[in-house]
Amino acid sequence: MTKDAFRLISPDGTETALPIREGTVGPSVIDVGKLYKEQGVFTYDPGFVSTGSCESDITYIDGEDGVLMYRGYPVEQLAKHSTFIEVAYLLLHGALPTAAELEEFDNTIRVHTMLNEGMLNFFKGFRYDAHPMAQLSAVVGSMSAYYHDEMDASNPKHRDIFAHRILAKLPTIAAAAYKLNIGQPFMYPRNDLDYCENFLQMMFAVPAEPYEIDPVAVEAIDLLFILHADHEQNCSTSTVRMAASSGANPYTSIAAGITALWGPAHGGANEAVLDMLQEIGTVKNIKKYVDKAKDKNDPFRLMGFGHRVYKNFDPRATIIREMCHKVLKQLGRDDSPLFELALELEQIALKDDYFIEKKLYPNVDFYSGIIYRALGIPTSMFTVMFALGRSVGWTAHWREMISDPHVRIARPRQLYVGPAQRDYVAIDKR
Ligand code: CMC
Repeated sequence: MTKDAFRLISPDGTETALPIREGTVGPSVIDVGKLYKEQGVFTYDPGFVSTGSCESDITYIDGEDGVLMYRGYPVEQLAKHSTFIEVAYLLLHGALPTAAELEEFDNTIRVHTMLNEGMLNFFKGFRYDAHPMAQLSAVVGSMSAYYHDEMDASNPKHRDIFAHRILAKLPTIAAAAYKLNIGQPFMYPRNDLDYCENFLQMMFAVPAEPYEIDPVAVEAIDLLFILHADHEQNCSTSTVRMAASSGANPYTSIAAGITALWGPAHGGANEAVLDMLQEIGTVKNIKKYVDKAKDKNDPFRLMGFGHRVYKNFDPRATIIREMCHKVLKQLGRDDSPLFELALELEQIALKDDYFIEKKLYPNVDFYSGIIYRALGIPTSMFTVMFALGRSVGWTAHWREMISDPHVRIARPRQLYVGPAQRDYVAIDKR
């Protein structure tokens, strides 16, 4: 037994040495891969609270100290100095690009923004009020029908093209979903515009008149995309990895990630926060809702509060709160009652023993919706905005997984608590 192994002693006294693995930074990891073979037992960890599922060199989070780094770069620095397209390159390729690499990457994304014209017909099949997340997952899944034969995951060139298509076409699909909802004509992408400008024109322009792109909106959306770009093995990213571990088509694996993101405990929380703030309505109702959140018999939770990993603060929330101030000021809406309500709710919750003890702080979704709303993006599109930013993280993780020689089909075990073997009873004897 090596000194640096974790010793597991079974009830009959048998000792198993479980190797300890060290990452670059962060807590040690016990490798339990051989546990079943050697001891005949599985580990049990619902929600994977103490379980790592893979090695990754993309993103690092220290939940105790509120640290988030992409490829080693603190998110605060990237938020201040970088752009979403540069961050996308960093996440996909592992290093910051040179000026020439960035230009080439940016151009590649710009020329992949159009959808196959046939794909637009999908939108005609949806009801006018279909939720944009439902449309996004369905249409992204349908990309597998267009690009199946040209997608050989073992071919690095195909992997690159896949990444470019996802990044370039998702804003076009998202904007088309929105246009369907409001009954306006679909706006084609414009490759002379940068990533966020192009998205805004596809969302808000109409063919009948010129559209002026607001630089405040571009700056805010670019920042939000950077902050949402990756978050290591979160629910949607793990879903993408799990689906793709069977060798499934990567477009359908991304579609699976989109559906996982939609849930209110994950990316759907930004929509739920706005609904909650509107329901609370005024500062004098805050106490009532904080009490509801603390009541064990009431399913209500403060949406936008709490995180599986961050137990101090979510660094993304701090940056977004600042951006929220800036956007509202620049748009002349710094008296926004919703923002005031959110700030007050944060203050009251942060002083409350329940939230202090459980280490519940505002997360990335708490303030993002207020910015989106100020920019005219409807609530139903909030989680779509999250998906646009996270699409690069999903793609980076898919690429990492597919090139990992140790990867195996993801297949957790279970603790079976159903009936033991019993005999079939004929229907007339039951
Ligand atoms: N309001 C009130 N109580 C809460 C909240 C909340 N928002 N979040 C957690 N708790 C309580 C929970 O009831 C539990 O109490 P107890 O120990 O007495 O049973 C304790 O805190 C731990 O909560 P948990 O649900 O076991 O923690 P988790 O790590 O499984 O869940 C979470 C994390 C984010 C799903 C959860 O905090 C939550 O539901 N928050 C509200 C939804 C939300 O804002 N989600 C966005 C997350 S950040 C973006 C993203 O991941 O997409």
